[in-house]
Amino acid sequence: MGSNKIKSMYVCSECGWESSKWVGKCQGCGSWNTMQEEIRNTAAKSTASSKIGIVSVQGVYAPPVAMRDIDTRNEERYKTNLKEFDRVLGGGIVKGSLVLLGGDPGIGKSTILLQVCNRLGNMLKILYVSGEESKRQIKLRADRLEVNCDNLYVVTETDIEIIAQIIKNENPDLVIIDSIQTMNLNELSSSPGSVTQVRECTNLLMKTAKSLEISVIIVGHVNKDGAIAGPKVLEHIVDAVLHFEGDKQMSYRILRAVKNRYGSTNEIGVFQMTNDGLSEVENPSMMLLSGRPKNVSGTCVACAMEGSRPILAEIQGLVTNSGFGNPRRMSTGFDYNRMNLILAVLEKRAGYFFSNADTYINVVGGLRLDEPAVDLAVAMSLVSSLKDTAILENALAFGEIGLAGEIRGVSQASARISEAIRLGFSKIVLPYQNLKNIKKENYPDAELVGVRNIRDAFRAMTENK
Ligand code: TYD
Ligand code: MG
Repeated sequence: MGSNKIKSMYVCSECGWESSKWVGKCQGCGSWNTMQEEIRNTAAKSTASSKIGIVSVQGVYAPPVAMRDIDTRNEERYKTNLKEFDRVLGGGIVKGSLVLLGGDPGIGKSTILLQVCNRLGNMLKILYVSGEESKRQIKLRADRLEVNCDNLYVVTETDIEIIAQIIKNENPDLVIIDSIQTMNLNELSSSPGSVTQVRECTNLLMKTAKSLEISVIIVGHVNKDGAIAGPKVLEHIVDAVLHFEGDKQMSYRILRAVKNRYGSTNEIGVFQMTNDGLSEVENPSMMLLSGRPKNVSGTCVACAMEGSRPILAEIQGLVTNSGFGNPRRMSTGFDYNRMNLILAVLEKRAGYFFSNADTYINVVGGLRLDEPAVDLAVAMSLVSSLKDTAILENALAFGEIGLAGEIRGVSQASARISEAIRLGFSKIVLPYQNLKNIKKENYPDAELVGVRNIRDAFRAMTENK
């Protein structure tokens, strides 16, 4: 072991980029004033995990295994039967996996995890480690959520080495760490929540969990930019990254996989915060469309695919005369630059003029829609507001808008049509290209209108034949 060498490093709190000198601007991610000094004891660091006897001793190593001999058949999963949660993880928590659950403070991370514990706690032994709340607070919340299971144990501790020792002694099946920002490795002189602490604590947890095949769910708070503190640093260590998001004023919450080594990253889970915890929303479209105004200009329903599931959402557009100077543009739930592009196409290719108008776009329900198939509905709500002409109540549109003003085909058109019909829409405006490949007689309950350009689409959306 080398001599104890103390040196000072500067680490970016956003992305983990390191420098031996202080700089004003991080060269990793370009943020200003994010470099923090951390005192490193280089010798101590290398002993941190060997101390608990998990890393293999020098000279002993696992021999290489032939690829065809590696067993992948039954990757064991713990199903919570909280369908929306399982779906996002690709069918349950994989045994021995490390999952990071990120989200704003107060969004409901502790709540959902306690509910997950409740579902699993009669089958598995679970250790709930909290560095944020007292045992009493946890118990009060558990009572409120009607948590009632035999094998759920609570530890309030922040020293990660002690926690690793407890994990080794107790050998649970699942460990919850709430939250990683409160955990602390004593050897490091930096404060809890700093990049080094968060990274080293996660590393230690990973080594402990992987060697004992224990699943770990780590809670990480998100900082103001929507990145988990020391974000990139953590995201590549763990097997899956879930984001829990939603408008705190509104009751629904969306769980989204950002990274998943054991499944797709497209799926979302939808929940609603109620007085007794989070309840699953199995029919998100219905919820998102409830309270939709009837016969008002500037609103159009879109159909977006979230993973394998089509979701309908209302898009509202507002176009008003701007007084003078630069017009205001604002977009919530839809990409701002994409909205500007659509406005440009509407002006240049379809002859709808917005240059003297303030324009606003809002996706109702706090959902973020990034799929190009939503373009047409965004354009429709803007034109509808500009012309002050309401879109037919039973009509819905999907399609991508190209720079030449053409409506381009999108994927999974039939899944979208079926969902629209299921929710009672009887006029569906879609790209002509998609319609060509669809048998109209399969959908006797709806009128399918294939369109090639924006003007045709608007006519179809506003005029009854
Ligand atoms: P919490 O899980 O503590 O958030 P996090 O761990 O992400 O910081 O959730 C806190 C919020 O949830 C709090 O504002 C109260 C609300 N809540 C309910 O509305 N109903 C409930 O049954 C519970 C337990 C919490
Ligand atoms: Mg919490």
